[in-house]
Amino acid sequence: MAHYKKRASWINWVLFLVTMVVVFFLGLLASSITERRAESEYVYQPRVDLSEYEPRNVLWGWNFPREYQSYLKTADTTFRSKYNGSAMIDELAEDPRLVVLWAGYSFSKDYSSSRGHYYAITDIRNTLRTGTPREPDDGPQPATCWSCKSPDVPRLMETMGPMGFYTGKWGAKGPDVVNFIGCADCHDPKTMDLRITRPALKEAFKSMGKDISQATHQEMRSLVCAQCHVEYYFDKTRPDGAGVEYLTFPWKYGTSADSALKYYEAVKHTDFTHQMSKAPILKAQHPDYEIYLTGIHAERGVACADCHMPYVKEGGQKFTSHHITSPLSNISGSCQVCHRESEETLRANVYTRQDKVKQIRDLAEMEIVRAHVEAKAAWNAGATDYEMAPALKQIRYAQWFWDYISASHGAAFHSPVEVSRILGNAVNAAGEARVLIARVLAAHGKNQPVPYPEITTKMLAQKYIGLDMARLNAEKAGWIKTVVPVWDQMAKEREAKMVPSLTENPDI
Ligand code: HEC
Ligand code: HEC
Ligand code: HEC
Ligand code: HEC
Repeated sequence: MAHYKKRASWINWVLFLVTMVVVFFLGLLASSITERRAESEYVYQPRVDLSEYEPRNVLWGWNFPREYQSYLKTADTTFRSKYNGSAMIDELAEDPRLVVLWAGYSFSKDYSSSRGHYYAITDIRNTLRTGTPREPDDGPQPATCWSCKSPDVPRLMETMGPMGFYTGKWGAKGPDVVNFIGCADCHDPKTMDLRITRPALKEAFKSMGKDISQATHQEMRSLVCAQCHVEYYFDKTRPDGAGVEYLTFPWKYGTSADSALKYYEAVKHTDFTHQMSKAPILKAQHPDYEIYLTGIHAERGVACADCHMPYVKEGGQKFTSHHITSPLSNISGSCQVCHRESEETLRANVYTRQDKVKQIRDLAEMEIVRAHVEAKAAWNAGATDYEMAPALKQIRYAQWFWDYISASHGAAFHSPVEVSRILGNAVNAAGEARVLIARVLAAHGKNQPVPYPEITTKMLAQKYIGLDMARLNAEKAGWIKTVVPVWDQMAKEREAKMVPSLTENPDI
């Protein structure tokens, strides 16, 4: 026993010395960490004082050059994946069925896939959908259409309020909304914390009985995107703004495709009457956030920014890449921080999901095109409103479910199972519509199948629905040459008076 005791006290001394050494090194480490932190606080010295809604990105870049430089990379259009990428893809040429599906609506004239944030202003000016407004009161679009394009939007809302901003036509605010989506849209300039600048998102949370200011930091890393990457419509029936097209998200009953449809049914909203079938159609926008919410990544707490804004390292400094684009252009940064699989495997995982979803999507499109064409044949055969109403309702549902998925370019990966379920609803409703129309046709003595139209190219499809594209394109080209430079000149003069002035400071 005595022998055992002696050995124990010797071990105690060793333990004591080892502990002292460890404590000493821990102390050193702690002091080096605090020093580093002090250093990094020292590194950030704002060079310009930014106002609350400074819309000029270059000024923020003066304070945060790394984030700014990476954000400018959204101008790069070279990356192309199997279905998406940063290139602007003419979706109507890629899939001419779309022209018939949107017959009677401006999307049948022009619809391209999105590219980087850098092009937000250029592309909304250039699209045929915004027309050629020369006078402030000219249509076709309301000012509301600028809402997701620019940090000039919160700047203007600060003085005129949301209702004031949404009032009037799109062209009337042309000289005022000129900076592409930027830092002020997502950041508070004093703290650089993420913030919500779009009232529509706050109001949508409120309509669900939620308070967005309670969102966690990780949720904010998706919610900043949900300011724009969502389904929305323009509510013209608000008592506080007669006729004003007020930006609204249909979230009162929840954020699913089904709850949005329930909402639109309740408020009796229709975006356009289909030129061929006369069905009351809902045009889905881009419910990227809502569909993402139903996927496994959202369920595991992975945010949009985790995949679309990965951390990068430059000169020993770690920062958030603001080159927001397809994560397939940087799989190591975007996916392999969590997944051990090879780049090829992860890319293949994305493509197989997209391929499979595309199969059901194609089925839905063919069924819905047939439904529109057959409905037109029924009208031609003398069908009445009363006879057609049940079929038109099914066409409305089919097109809603199909477009909800089709409009969201990331959906097939973000949530493949939910996306397949929704497309299943589309195929089913289109089938129902076709059965109902076949009965109407038969009642009017038409028993032969209605032929599928010759719409193998965009040109043929646009001719089929009677669009004069040469005239539309020429008018737009003339407008871009004459009106856009005037807007830019007016903006330049206005911004020259802003503080700080870019012209006074040639360094910026
Ligand atoms: C103020 C509105 C707005 C916000 C906020 C916003 N986006 Fe966008 N985003 C757009 C618009 C508009 C486009 C299309 C621009 C174009 O095609 O001209 C776009 C395009 C994109 C694209 C396509 C890029 C490409 O290379 O094809 C991705 C990806 C994207 N956004 C992801 C995000 C993510 C992730 C967030 C949040 C971190 C976000 N966006 C926040 C409006 C916004
Ligand atoms: C679409 C939203 C969005 C836009 C636009 C945006 N940011 Fe960010 N920014 C983020 C997100 C998300 C983070 C990560 C924040 C976090 O997790 O705390 C971030 C982080 C930052 C940070 C913190 C440091 C870092 O790198 O993580 C800085 C500084 C910053 N951004 C500067 C800018 C500047 C400058 C611009 C304009 C050129 C800009 N941001 C535009 C969303 C945006
Ligand atoms: C922040 C971590 C994180 C990032 C970043 C991330 N993932 Fe995941 N991913 C997960 C988690 C967690 C799951 C759920 C599986 C689990 O819990 O083990 C998952 C699941 C998946 C699945 C299976 C989903 C299904 O449909 O069944 C695929 C495929 C996948 N990820 C691919 C990717 C790809 C591609 C990227 C990059 C674009 C990516 N992930 C980025 C964490 C991440
Ligand atoms: C787990 C990773 C992951 C998360 C989280 C994620 N995305 Fe994606 N996203 C992808 C991948 C992968 C694609 C497909 C890219 C391709 O096909 O090139 C994609 C595609 C997109 C596209 C179409 C891009 C294009 O090139 O046209 C948009 C827009 C988009 N995502 C926005 C979002 C938004 C907004 C959120 C959050 C609400 C989000 N994503 C969350 C991985 C992710």
